[in-house]
Amino acid sequence: MNPTLLAIESSCDETSASVIQNGQVLSNIVATQAIHEQYGGVVPELASRAHQQNIIPVVSQALQKANIAKSQLDAVAFTRGPGLLGALLVGCSFAKSFALGLNLPLIEVNHMQAHILAHFIDDPKPNFPFLCLTVSGGHTQIVLVRSHLDMEVLGQTTDDAVGEAFDKSAKLLGLPYPGGPMLDKLAATGDPNRFPFPIVNMDGYDFSFSGIKTSILNFVKKNSAAEADFVQNHLNDICASIQWTLIQTLMKKLVLAAKELGIKEIAIAGGVSANSGLRATLQEYAQKHGWNVYIPAFEYCTDNAAMIAMAAHYQYLAGDFTTQYASPDPRLKV
Ligand code: KG4
Ligand code: ZN
Repeated sequence: MNPTLLAIESSCDETSASVIQNGQVLSNIVATQAIHEQYGGVVPELASRAHQQNIIPVVSQALQKANIAKSQLDAVAFTRGPGLLGALLVGCSFAKSFALGLNLPLIEVNHMQAHILAHFIDDPKPNFPFLCLTVSGGHTQIVLVRSHLDMEVLGQTTDDAVGEAFDKSAKLLGLPYPGGPMLDKLAATGDPNRFPFPIVNMDGYDFSFSGIKTSILNFVKKNSAAEADFVQNHLNDICASIQWTLIQTLMKKLVLAAKELGIKEIAIAGGVSANSGLRATLQEYAQKHGWNVYIPAFEYCTDNAAMIAMAAHYQYLAGDFTTQYASPDPRLKV
Protein backbone atom coordinates (compact mmCIF):
# COMPACT_ATOMS: atom_id res chain seq x y z
CA MET A 1 0.00 0.00 0.00
CA ASN A 2 1.41 3.40 -1.01
CA PRO A 3 -1.37 5.76 0.04
CA THR A 4 -1.45 9.36 -1.13
CA LEU A 5 -3.37 11.44 1.40
CA LEU A 6 -4.53 15.02 1.88
CA ALA A 7 -4.66 16.16 5.53
CA ILE A 8 -6.26 19.26 7.01
CA GLU A 9 -5.54 20.90 10.38
CA SER A 10 -7.83 23.64 11.75
CA SER A 11 -7.96 23.10 15.53
CA CYS A 12 -6.81 26.55 16.63
CA ASP A 13 -5.22 29.49 14.81
CA GLU A 14 -3.30 27.84 11.96
CA THR A 15 -5.05 26.72 8.79
CA SER A 16 -2.88 24.00 7.34
CA ALA A 17 -2.96 21.35 4.61
CA SER A 18 -0.43 18.66 3.74
CA VAL A 19 -0.02 15.94 1.13
CA ILE A 20 1.76 12.74 2.10
CA GLN A 21 2.66 9.84 -0.19
CA ASN A 22 3.74 6.50 1.24
CA GLY A 23 4.73 8.22 4.52
CA GLN A 24 6.79 10.96 2.79
CA VAL A 25 5.54 14.51 3.33
CA LEU A 26 5.33 16.20 -0.09
CA SER A 27 3.91 19.52 1.13
CA ASN A 28 2.95 21.25 4.35
CA ILE A 29 1.29 24.66 3.91
CA VAL A 30 0.59 26.63 7.11
CA ALA A 31 -1.36 29.92 7.19
CA THR A 32 -0.93 31.49 10.63
CA GLN A 33 -3.79 33.82 11.55
CA ALA A 34 -2.23 37.17 12.42
CA ILE A 35 -5.59 38.70 13.38
CA HIS A 36 -5.35 37.43 16.98
CA GLU A 37 -2.23 39.49 17.76
CA GLN A 38 -4.27 42.66 18.30
CA TYR A 39 -6.45 40.88 20.90
CA GLY A 40 -3.60 39.35 22.92
CA GLY A 41 -4.91 35.80 22.41
CA VAL A 42 -6.89 33.55 20.06
CA VAL A 43 -10.50 34.76 19.53
CA PRO A 44 -12.44 31.56 18.64
CA GLU A 45 -15.03 33.28 16.42
CA LEU A 46 -12.34 35.06 14.41
CA ALA A 47 -10.33 31.84 14.13
CA SER A 48 -13.32 30.06 12.51
CA ARG A 49 -13.83 32.89 10.01
CA ALA A 50 -10.13 33.01 9.11
CA HIS A 51 -10.18 29.21 8.55
CA GLN A 52 -13.13 29.70 6.17
CA GLN A 53 -11.15 32.29 4.23
CA ASN A 54 -7.89 30.32 4.18
CA ILE A 55 -8.97 26.73 3.67
CA ILE A 56 -9.42 26.61 -0.13
CA PRO A 57 -6.20 28.51 -1.00
CA VAL A 58 -4.21 26.49 1.56
CA VAL A 59 -5.47 23.14 0.20
CA SER A 60 -4.85 24.25 -3.41
CA GLN A 61 -1.29 25.25 -2.55
CA ALA A 62 -0.65 21.95 -0.74
CA LEU A 63 -1.77 19.94 -3.80
CA GLN A 64 0.15 22.19 -6.18
CA LYS A 65 3.38 22.11 -4.19
CA ALA A 66 3.15 18.30 -3.91
CA ASN A 67 2.43 18.11 -7.66
CA ILE A 68 -0.49 15.80 -6.89
CA ALA A 69 -3.85 15.91 -8.71
CA LYS A 70 -7.08 15.37 -6.74
CA SER A 71 -7.60 12.18 -8.76
CA GLN A 72 -4.39 10.72 -7.29
CA LEU A 73 -5.62 10.94 -3.68
CA ASP A 74 -6.57 7.80 -1.76
CA ALA A 75 -8.16 9.44 1.31
CA VAL A 76 -8.79 12.75 3.08
CA ALA A 77 -7.88 13.32 6.74
CA PHE A 78 -8.88 16.05 9.18
CA THR A 79 -8.31 16.98 12.83
CA ARG A 80 -11.30 15.77 14.85
CA GLY A 81 -10.09 17.34 18.13
CA PRO A 82 -9.12 18.48 20.66
CA GLY A 83 -9.43 22.13 19.71
CA LEU A 84 -11.87 25.00 19.28
CA LEU A 85 -15.27 23.73 18.12
CA GLY A 86 -15.93 26.39 15.48
CA ALA A 87 -12.40 26.07 14.12
CA LEU A 88 -12.59 22.25 13.97
CA LEU A 89 -15.97 22.43 12.19
CA VAL A 90 -14.39 24.25 9.25
CA GLY A 91 -11.74 21.57 8.64
CA CYS A 92 -14.19 18.73 9.27
CA SER A 93 -16.89 20.09 6.94
CA PHE A 94 -14.38 20.90 4.25
CA ALA A 95 -12.78 17.44 4.43
CA LYS A 96 -16.17 15.72 4.28
CA SER A 97 -17.36 17.69 1.26
CA PHE A 98 -14.03 17.20 -0.50
CA ALA A 99 -14.10 13.44 0.18
CA LEU A 100 -17.74 13.16 -0.85
CA GLY A 101 -17.07 15.01 -4.12
CA LEU A 102 -14.19 12.70 -4.98
CA ASN A 103 -15.72 9.55 -3.49
CA LEU A 104 -12.77 9.09 -1.13
CA PRO A 105 -12.64 7.58 2.37
CA LEU A 106 -12.29 9.89 5.37
CA ILE A 107 -9.83 9.63 8.27
CA GLU A 108 -10.36 11.49 11.57
CA VAL A 109 -7.18 12.30 13.49
CA ASN A 110 -6.55 13.07 17.15
CA HIS A 111 -4.51 16.30 17.26
CA MET A 112 -2.45 15.25 20.32
CA GLN A 113 -1.57 11.85 18.83
CA ALA A 114 -0.55 13.69 15.67
CA HIS A 115 1.83 15.98 17.61
CA ILE A 116 3.58 12.81 18.82
CA LEU A 117 3.56 11.16 15.37
CA ALA A 118 5.35 14.22 13.94
CA HIS A 119 8.43 12.29 15.11
CA PHE A 120 7.90 9.84 12.25
CA ILE A 121 8.17 12.48 9.51
CA ASP A 122 11.98 12.69 9.57
CA ASP A 123 14.86 10.57 10.92
CA PRO A 124 15.89 9.71 13.58
CA LYS A 125 12.62 8.08 14.65
CA PRO A 126 12.05 6.98 18.26
CA ASN A 127 11.93 3.27 19.08
CA PHE A 128 8.89 1.78 20.85
CA PRO A 129 8.05 2.00 23.65
CA PHE A 130 8.98 5.65 24.20
CA LEU A 131 7.83 8.46 26.47
CA CYS A 132 6.63 11.70 24.95
CA LEU A 133 6.30 14.96 26.84
CA THR A 134 3.55 16.68 24.83
CA VAL A 135 3.55 20.38 25.59
CA SER A 136 1.27 22.85 23.81
CA GLY A 137 -1.04 25.80 24.37
CA GLY A 138 -3.86 23.52 25.47
CA HIS A 139 -2.15 20.39 26.84
CA THR A 140 0.70 19.14 29.01
CA GLN A 141 0.97 15.37 29.04
CA ILE A 142 3.43 12.54 29.61
CA VAL A 143 2.40 9.83 27.15
CA LEU A 144 3.57 6.23 26.97
CA VAL A 145 3.75 5.43 23.25
CA ARG A 146 3.63 1.65 22.65
CA SER A 147 3.13 1.83 18.89
CA HIS A 148 2.02 4.39 16.29
CA LEU A 149 -1.61 4.05 17.33
CA ASP A 150 -1.36 2.72 20.90
CA MET A 151 -0.77 5.54 23.37
CA GLU A 152 -1.56 6.02 27.06
CA VAL A 153 -1.56 9.32 28.97
CA LEU A 154 0.35 8.70 32.22
CA GLY A 155 0.09 12.21 33.60
CA GLN A 156 -1.23 15.62 32.63
CA THR A 157 -1.90 19.11 33.85
CA THR A 158 -4.68 19.50 36.36
CA ASP A 159 -5.25 23.16 35.38
CA ASP A 160 -3.35 25.36 32.87
CA ALA A 161 -1.19 23.96 30.08
CA VAL A 162 2.50 24.90 30.12
CA GLY A 163 2.09 26.86 26.85
CA GLU A 164 -0.65 28.85 28.57
CA ALA A 165 1.71 29.48 31.50
CA PHE A 166 4.33 30.82 29.06
CA ASP A 167 1.77 33.02 27.27
CA LYS A 168 0.12 34.34 30.44
CA SER A 169 3.47 35.05 32.13
CA ALA A 170 4.55 36.96 29.02
CA LYS A 171 1.30 38.95 29.12
CA LEU A 172 1.89 39.84 32.79
CA LEU A 173 5.30 41.20 31.75
CA GLY A 174 3.65 43.31 29.04
CA LEU A 175 4.97 41.23 26.12
CA PRO A 176 2.86 40.94 22.94
CA TYR A 177 0.99 37.75 21.92
CA PRO A 178 2.08 35.04 21.29
CA GLY A 179 4.18 35.44 24.40
CA GLY A 180 5.88 32.02 24.56
CA PRO A 181 8.38 32.55 21.71
CA MET A 182 9.10 36.14 22.89
CA LEU A 183 9.75 35.02 26.47
CA ASP A 184 12.07 32.33 25.09
CA LYS A 185 14.05 34.93 23.11
CA LEU A 186 14.42 37.30 26.08
CA ALA A 187 15.36 34.44 28.42
CA ALA A 188 18.37 33.55 26.25
CA THR A 189 20.47 36.40 27.70
CA GLY A 190 19.04 36.32 31.25
CA ASP A 191 20.13 34.67 34.50
CA PRO A 192 17.75 31.76 35.27
CA ASN A 193 18.76 31.74 38.96
CA ARG A 194 18.21 35.46 39.57
CA PHE A 195 14.59 35.19 40.78
CA PRO A 196 13.42 31.92 42.36
CA PHE A 197 9.79 30.90 41.75
CA PRO A 198 8.20 27.89 43.46
CA ILE A 199 8.11 24.54 41.64
CA VAL A 200 4.71 22.91 42.20
CA ASN A 201 4.92 19.17 42.81
CA MET A 202 1.72 17.22 42.13
CA ASP A 203 1.07 13.54 42.83
CA GLY A 204 2.31 10.95 40.32
CA TYR A 205 3.01 12.30 36.85
CA ASP A 206 0.52 15.19 36.97
CA PHE A 207 1.34 18.88 36.67
CA SER A 208 -0.11 22.18 37.87
CA PHE A 209 0.76 25.54 36.31
CA SER A 210 -1.88 27.91 37.65
CA GLY A 211 0.05 28.63 40.89
CA ILE A 212 3.15 29.76 39.01
CA LYS A 213 1.07 32.38 37.22
CA THR A 214 -0.20 33.75 40.56
CA SER A 215 3.29 33.83 42.07
CA ILE A 216 4.58 35.77 39.04
CA LEU A 217 1.68 38.21 39.35
CA ASN A 218 2.44 38.79 43.07
CA PHE A 219 6.17 39.05 42.33
CA VAL A 220 5.62 41.71 39.64
CA LYS A 221 3.20 43.71 41.84
CA LYS A 222 5.46 43.65 44.89
CA ASN A 223 8.65 44.61 43.08
CA SER A 224 7.01 47.21 40.85
CA ALA A 225 5.73 48.99 43.97
CA ALA A 226 9.33 49.36 45.19
CA GLU A 227 10.93 50.07 41.79
CA ALA A 228 8.69 51.63 39.11
CA ASP A 229 10.53 50.18 36.09
CA PHE A 230 11.36 46.88 37.80
CA VAL A 231 10.06 44.64 34.97
CA GLN A 232 11.80 46.65 32.24
CA ASN A 233 15.05 46.83 34.20
CA HIS A 234 15.21 43.07 34.84
CA LEU A 235 13.22 41.70 31.89
CA ASN A 236 15.79 39.16 30.66
CA ASP A 237 16.47 37.76 34.14
CA ILE A 238 12.73 37.53 34.92
CA CYS A 239 12.05 35.69 31.64
CA ALA A 240 14.99 33.32 32.19
CA SER A 241 13.83 32.61 35.78
CA ILE A 242 10.22 31.91 34.70
CA GLN A 243 11.36 29.69 31.83
CA TRP A 244 13.73 27.78 34.12
CA THR A 245 10.91 27.16 36.63
CA LEU A 246 8.50 25.90 33.95
CA ILE A 247 11.14 23.61 32.44
CA GLN A 248 12.16 22.20 35.84
CA THR A 249 8.50 21.46 36.61
CA LEU A 250 8.24 19.47 33.37
CA MET A 251 11.59 17.69 33.71
CA LYS A 252 10.96 16.53 37.27
CA LYS A 253 7.99 14.41 36.16
CA LEU A 254 9.64 13.27 32.95
CA VAL A 255 12.65 11.98 34.92
CA LEU A 256 10.31 10.24 37.38
CA ALA A 257 8.33 8.53 34.60
CA ALA A 258 11.48 7.48 32.72
CA LYS A 259 12.96 6.03 35.91
CA GLU A 260 9.84 4.22 37.09
CA LEU A 261 9.08 2.74 33.67
CA GLY A 262 12.73 2.03 32.83
CA ILE A 263 12.43 3.81 29.47
CA LYS A 264 15.34 5.72 27.92
CA GLU A 265 13.71 6.68 24.59
CA ILE A 266 12.39 10.17 25.31
CA ALA A 267 10.64 12.61 22.94
CA ILE A 268 9.07 16.05 23.22
CA ALA A 269 6.27 17.35 21.01
CA GLY A 270 3.85 20.27 20.64
CA GLY A 271 4.31 24.04 20.38
CA VAL A 272 6.41 24.40 23.54
CA SER A 273 8.92 21.87 22.21
CA ALA A 274 10.13 24.80 20.07
CA ASN A 275 11.41 26.39 23.30
CA SER A 276 15.20 26.69 23.15
CA GLY A 277 15.59 26.22 26.92
CA LEU A 278 13.55 23.00 26.91
CA ARG A 279 15.45 21.67 23.87
CA ALA A 280 18.83 22.39 25.52
CA THR A 281 17.72 20.93 28.87
CA LEU A 282 16.56 17.72 27.18
CA GLN A 283 19.98 17.35 25.53
CA GLU A 284 21.66 17.86 28.93
CA TYR A 285 19.44 15.22 30.52
CA ALA A 286 20.23 12.85 27.65
CA GLN A 287 23.88 12.98 28.71
CA LYS A 288 23.10 12.76 32.41
CA HIS A 289 20.57 9.89 32.27
CA GLY A 290 21.78 8.02 29.17
CA TRP A 291 18.57 8.87 27.27
CA ASN A 292 18.10 8.86 23.50
CA VAL A 293 16.19 12.08 22.95
CA TYR A 294 13.99 13.10 20.01
CA ILE A 295 13.25 16.77 19.35
CA PRO A 296 11.03 17.74 16.38
CA ALA A 297 12.19 20.14 13.67
CA PHE A 298 10.80 23.64 14.40
CA GLU A 299 8.25 23.44 11.56
CA TYR A 300 6.67 20.35 13.17
CA CYS A 301 6.53 21.69 16.77
CA THR A 302 3.64 24.14 16.41
CA ASP A 303 0.39 23.19 14.67
CA ASN A 304 0.79 21.86 11.13
CA ALA A 305 -1.03 19.44 8.82
CA ALA A 306 2.07 17.30 8.10
CA MET A 307 1.66 15.71 11.53
CA ILE A 308 -2.04 15.08 10.81
CA ALA A 309 -0.98 13.48 7.51
CA MET A 310 1.57 11.27 9.28
CA ALA A 311 -1.08 10.05 11.75
CA ALA A 312 -3.50 9.52 8.84
CA HIS A 313 -0.87 7.43 7.05
CA TYR A 314 -0.72 4.93 9.94
CA GLN A 315 -4.50 4.97 10.33
CA TYR A 316 -4.90 4.28 6.60
CA LEU A 317 -2.56 1.28 6.87
CA ALA A 318 -4.59 0.05 9.87
CA GLY A 319 -7.88 0.51 7.96
CA ASP A 320 -9.06 3.09 10.51
CA PHE A 321 -11.60 5.12 8.50
CA THR A 322 -14.58 7.18 9.63
CA THR A 323 -17.98 7.93 8.10
CA GLN A 324 -19.75 10.90 6.56
CA TYR A 325 -21.43 11.32 9.97
CA ALA A 326 -18.12 12.16 11.70
CA SER A 327 -18.21 15.33 13.81
CA PRO A 328 -15.56 17.29 15.71
CA ASP A 329 -14.88 16.61 19.37
CA PRO A 330 -13.31 19.65 21.10
CA ARG A 331 -12.35 17.58 24.17
CA LEU A 332 -11.11 14.45 22.43
CA LYS A 333 -8.70 12.44 24.64
CA VAL A 334 -5.58 10.59 23.50
O1 KG4 B 1 0.97 23.06 19.57
P1 KG4 B 1 0.61 24.49 19.42
O2 KG4 B 1 1.02 25.21 18.17
O3 KG4 B 1 -0.92 24.70 19.57
C1 KG4 B 1 -1.71 23.99 20.45
O4 KG4 B 1 -2.07 22.82 20.11
O5 KG4 B 1 -1.95 24.54 21.55
O6 KG4 B 1 1.24 25.22 20.71
C2 KG4 B 1 1.12 26.61 20.89
C3 KG4 B 1 1.82 26.99 22.19
C4 KG4 B 1 1.58 28.45 22.59
O7 KG4 B 1 1.26 28.50 23.97
C5 KG4 B 1 2.94 29.09 22.30
O8 KG4 B 1 3.22 30.21 23.11
C6 KG4 B 1 3.88 27.95 22.64
O9 KG4 B 1 3.24 26.83 22.08
N1 KG4 B 1 5.22 28.15 22.07
C7 KG4 B 1 6.31 28.38 22.82
C8 KG4 B 1 7.39 28.57 21.91
N2 KG4 B 1 6.90 28.45 20.63
C9 KG4 B 1 5.56 28.20 20.76
N3 KG4 B 1 6.47 28.44 24.16
C10 KG4 B 1 7.71 28.68 24.62
N4 KG4 B 1 8.80 28.88 23.82
C11 KG4 B 1 8.68 28.83 22.47
N5 KG4 B 1 9.74 29.02 21.69
ZN1 ZN C 1 -1.22 21.64 18.77
